[in-house]
Amino acid sequence: MSKKRENHPQWSSWLLFVLAATGSAIGLGNIWKFPYIAGQNGGSAFVLVYLACVLGMGIPMLMAETLIGRRGRLNPIDCMEVVAEEAGANPHWRWLGGMGILLGFLILTYYSVIAGWTIAYIFKTAAGVFLGKGASEVGYLFAQFIASPWQLIFWHSIFMLATMAIVARGVQGGLEKAVELLTPALFILLLILVGYAMSAGDFQRGVRFLFYPDFGRFSGESLLMAMGHAFFSLSIGMGAMMIYGSYLPGNVSIAKTSLIIAVADTSVALLAGVAIFPLVFANHLEPATGPGLIFQTLPLAFAQMPLGSLFGALFFVLLAFAALSSSISLIEPAVAWLMEDFGLTRPLACLVSGFGCWLIGLGTVFSFNRWSHLTLFDKTFFDLLDFLTSNLMLPISGMLLVVFAGWVMQPEVNRAELSTSPCLFRLWWLLSRYVAPATVGLILLNGIGVL
Ligand code: TRP
Repeated sequence: MSKKRENHPQWSSWLLFVLAATGSAIGLGNIWKFPYIAGQNGGSAFVLVYLACVLGMGIPMLMAETLIGRRGRLNPIDCMEVVAEEAGANPHWRWLGGMGILLGFLILTYYSVIAGWTIAYIFKTAAGVFLGKGASEVGYLFAQFIASPWQLIFWHSIFMLATMAIVARGVQGGLEKAVELLTPALFILLLILVGYAMSAGDFQRGVRFLFYPDFGRFSGESLLMAMGHAFFSLSIGMGAMMIYGSYLPGNVSIAKTSLIIAVADTSVALLAGVAIFPLVFANHLEPATGPGLIFQTLPLAFAQMPLGSLFGALFFVLLAFAALSSSISLIEPAVAWLMEDFGLTRPLACLVSGFGCWLIGLGTVFSFNRWSHLTLFDKTFFDLLDFLTSNLMLPISGMLLVVFAGWVMQPEVNRAELSTSPCLFRLWWLLSRYVAPATVGLILLNGIGVL
């Protein structure tokens, strides 16, 4: 293990870690998924529960996963093994690391397909395809686009290639360079869009939909989705934060950096909602439209804005970049594992894992066209994969990680890694030992219909 550790890279500074982890957290989850699932689950009630999940479980879990990573300083499988051994526990905890690697890989298979849509929309908005079109025409163009497997495969391939090109360059040469500019730029563009929604959209109705509590359409499944999404959005439970934590220099406070990441991530999701729902209502669209929501509202908004083609294209560029800074964290655990445990070079490890993702991603591509009629429990391949990974496996793996940090690792080790005030440490301790595991467990049992 010590030989492997010698070659394990490090971020150049704590700020780069924060940027990379924030870049990982902010992605399609915030701008594409959050508004559409909030819309499907009745809006405000979903948002409230989501916020409670971020605070009570997400943040302690984010800290737990990062600290395990920094303690182990290896890929998730080996990392879990050495930290378990250090604590005198069973080395089979390594399988939890393995589950994280697999989950990240599976999520990337569909993440890349949707990210491909954002790249396609850069070109469509820039070319002015939506200029002068109404809501139904924009909706029709989207339906036509996803009905074509070849187009989706093309953009999915481009996105996978871009991800692999960055990851192949390594931590300092690839990952760091990619996140430095993108994360701040996305914030600025989102604020511009909120400004536009305030002036041109039905702002009051949009904000009411998001923040005025209404539990009418909220179900047991909604609760599960709100929790799963809180974890998905913070990039917890899949080894991404563990591997990023393992590249983190030793003297940085994990409590402080985790809080910054969580605040940035949550504000981007809320801002995206505040930008999108006023436009949904002003254009008489349905909030429960589903995965196509932003691809139907935003082009409409941009088509009516002065310099709309420019802003629209820019927005989709940034969205594609936000997706890229997340996708690299989804595949990095697998790549680090293939390198450290099988001796592959970084480019070869990228090629193998990237090709696998691309291939399974075709299942998601076909869910929107050729296989759209093939459903199980009323869900297509894409819906099923998304539901299983983000709503079931992710909470399970996040819960096991926080149990590991809270119950298996020694308190002194946790205290040293988190480096925060005694009072905050106690709070983390209570949340991660009792509150987070128990709540996740209850919500899971409720969601799968046992309770
Ligand atoms: N958080 C990202 C988003 O919101 C997705 C993501 C990237 C992710 N890495 C992850 C989710 C690791 C879970 C685990 O789009």
